[in-house]
Amino acid sequence: MDLTSRIRLHTGSEMPVLGLGTWQLTDNTADVIATALDLGYPMIDTSGDYGTQPGIGDGLRKKSAQRSDFYLATKVEETENAYEATKKNLGELGLDHADLMLIHRPPSTGAGEELWRGLIRAREEGLTRDIGVSNYSAELIDRLIEATGEVPALNQVEWSPFGHSMELKRHHDDKGIIIQAYSPLTRTRRLGDETLAEIGRAHEKSPAQVLIRWNLQRGTVPIPKANQRQHLEENIQVFDFTLSEDDMAALDQLNEHYSSLGRLPYL
Ligand SMILES: NC(=O)c1ccc[n+]([C@@H]2O[C@H](COP(=O)([O-])OP(=O)(O)OC[C@H]3O[C@@H](n4cnc5c(N)ncnc54)[C@H](OP(=O)(O)O)[C@@H]3O)[C@@H](O)[C@H]2O)c1
Repeated sequence: MDLTSRIRLHTGSEMPVLGLGTWQLTDNTADVIATALDLGYPMIDTSGDYGTQPGIGDGLRKKSAQRSDFYLATKVEETENAYEATKKNLGELGLDHADLMLIHRPPSTGAGEELWRGLIRAREEGLTRDIGVSNYSAELIDRLIEATGEVPALNQVEWSPFGHSMELKRHHDDKGIIIQAYSPLTRTRRLGDETLAEIGRAHEKSPAQVLIRWNLQRGTVPIPKANQRQHLEENIQVFDFTLSEDDMAALDQLNEHYSSLGRLPYL
């Protein structure tokens, strides 16, 4: 596996195994994106509510990036008309299509079947190659599938050794739904954990690199965010070591359903 590796979605499309998160990447977004592209980042994650879409578009144009050079995932808000919001997002990015469009979170009233139908329409019109959800529980996903017959390509959720659910993973594996891991570095809050440090020392890697590698080896797709060049570089130097089965088991055992948002919405 390396930075050019791809994971297959149930739709037949392929997606990079690692991407760059852009929440709060609001200082010099275009420059950070240009640096990330230079370093070889194959995927960028954003959202209509991050404020980063115009800067990402600027960064892509600054590097004259070809559309096939990068995978772009973005999200519509649960309060929006999903089809119209898809067009608005593409306008901000300056792109004619996304690779992946997600419902950012389920609406308070239920599973969001209308939002899902809006994304299905957007995909049918070529505005996005694939569609998925974020912050969804297994039960809410089952309701979307029951209403439309359309299985989300992936579910983007907060996911780290400190906060994850093997039950959700089993449900998603059964249905061929990929888990994309947001806040994979726990927004730095657990980087000082002693188990992480110990495993990192054994492989001469940082705690952040151990967290990213844990995802790669579990088949979940991390999207760490970084403003600083040193972090951007460090977070992709994760393909030259392998966590042992004991390391993986020790990391799994750190699970306490930790969430930097206060609660894992899929539990
Ligand atoms: N769907 C959703 O509801 C949802 C929710 C949250 C996040 N997300 C997505 O997931 C992405 C990642 O999550 P996140 O931004 O919440 O948190 P994160 O990636 O876990 O952590 C980002 C923080 O870690 C720092 N960092 C990055 N690399 C580091 C390294 N190697 N060593 C030490 N510190 C490092 C960054 O610092 P610097 O920036 O200073 O480099 C930043 O403060 C977001 O940007 C967004 O795209 C989605």
